Amino acid sequence: MTDALTFLQSLPALQSARLESLSQFAPHLQQRMFRQGELIFKEGDTDPWLYFVEAGVCEALKRNEQMGQDVWLRDIQAFEIIGLTSAFRPKPRSATVLAKTDVQLFAIDHELFRNILLGEGSHSETLRCFFDHFAKNVRRKNKQVAALKPSKVSRGKYPVAVFDSKSYTAETFCRENSGAFDFQFFDTRLTAETASLAEGFPAVVGFVNDDLGKGTLQALHAVGVEAIALRCAGFNNVDLKVAQELGMSVTRVPAYSPHAVAEHSLALMMALNRKTHKAYQRVRDGNFRLEGLVGFDFHGQTVGVVGTGKIGKCAVHILRGLGCRVLCYDVTPDAEIQNLPGVEYCDFDTLLAQSRVISLYVPLTPDTVHLIDAEAIEKMQDGVMLINTSRGGLVETKALIDGLKSKKIGSAGLDVYEEESAYFFEDFSEKTIDDDVLARLLTFHNVMVTSHQAFLTEEALVNIARSTQDSLKEFFNGKRGQELTNAVPFG
Ligand code: NAI
Repeated sequence: MTDALTFLQSLPALQSARLESLSQFAPHLQQRMFRQGELIFKEGDTDPWLYFVEAGVCEALKRNEQMGQDVWLRDIQAFEIIGLTSAFRPKPRSATVLAKTDVQLFAIDHELFRNILLGEGSHSETLRCFFDHFAKNVRRKNKQVAALKPSKVSRGKYPVAVFDSKSYTAETFCRENSGAFDFQFFDTRLTAETASLAEGFPAVVGFVNDDLGKGTLQALHAVGVEAIALRCAGFNNVDLKVAQELGMSVTRVPAYSPHAVAEHSLALMMALNRKTHKAYQRVRDGNFRLEGLVGFDFHGQTVGVVGTGKIGKCAVHILRGLGCRVLCYDVTPDAEIQNLPGVEYCDFDTLLAQSRVISLYVPLTPDTVHLIDAEAIEKMQDGVMLINTSRGGLVETKALIDGLKSKKIGSAGLDVYEEESAYFFEDFSEKTIDDDVLARLLTFHNVMVTSHQAFLTEEALVNIARSTQDSLKEFFNGKRGQELTNAVPFG
């Protein structure tokens, strides 16, 4: 257990308080432990203590007489202060507070706290810190009340903010909404700057190109957001360590339609091989010549599948149907496909060396960043076709461009790109593309870039909406963190 003074010094709210001042409070702080589910105080109680949460999570509930039940208000995380209002104006507690996990608190008697703060000694900075914290709390409470009235309480619907939303997202989310949610759809991406839009929404829905790094998570937490439901499978855009520290829940849609993504990767392979993108333009131009359109039979070719999880496995089945020899590489080979005729697992270098087509189906993790770099490209066959429908960061784009220029890489099909978040899902047809690397990629006739659309099928959209709403229901029914069925694993 931390000693009281060290703890007070570590409180973000008291960062500008003076040490001499904190030293006067420290000897009067009592350490208390509450077991999960234990009552700390009840709404209406006269409880004369000011609490500082040292570790664990508490939850605040308020009685709603109309509904005849307690309504969950918010979680109270480590380093938060409970009961500052009552410390200055003793009155019965306005909410019930329970230990949501095992909790350690420091407690100080209200009167003692007031006497030290307003008594002798130089406490003006400390007073300002508490006042600042108090003012923030009042603002947050007002917003909570505003959010509760129209939705959670009056209409019994849960408010959820959906970011980076497009027409197809909103349509499916509304169609699949059984009436439980009040969705507010925002076109804009979720970033540290746009996070304030989520004020009054305990949960937000995010997508692949939302920035869920430290700054955004802190900004979301500051406006009371407790849960992030990703409507995608990958979660590389979330700083999970920070989410965990802030006690935020993060869910994803682990599988919505692996077929959709695998089929799109095949569409890229087929189009690049038979140069359908060129043929289409030519014929529309009245040019019916075939020069430059020669492809190869997929039947009998060796295709390398990197990652044989849900999507990779679908790709293996399709490629077998085409009569390909499928070379697979995965840290955990899949028992279902490893004994299929025409399918072989091998090491990464063998896959690189023997495949005419290489397609990536691994997640982006610290181990897979730039899996395809200059060194890997060097090991590939001349004229290889590279397909990436997983995450842009798997491929070092500059090395890919060098490979295309030297003709080592014969063609590339990319549904994802390292720096896609600035462009994908938006219309830049009337604007300039400032990203020279992307602009260079788009000049190659043997490169096909699609705008992260592999997931975009009717079936996948419906599954995404349903699974995301299931996670949100679990959250609003009280599940948190790893209790949620589709929680993203925290490390
Ligand atoms: P999954 O988790 O079922 O399969 C991933 C496979 O990669 C697993 O078999 C795992 O063992 C393997 N793997 C992980 N790290 C590896 C490493 N360092 N080396 C070799 N193998 C490794 O995931 P799923 O559903 O197949 O999705 C794969 C990726 O596809 C997602 O992480 C996501 O980034 C991407 N994706 C792209 C979409 C799009 O619209 N373009 C849509 C959905 C997913």
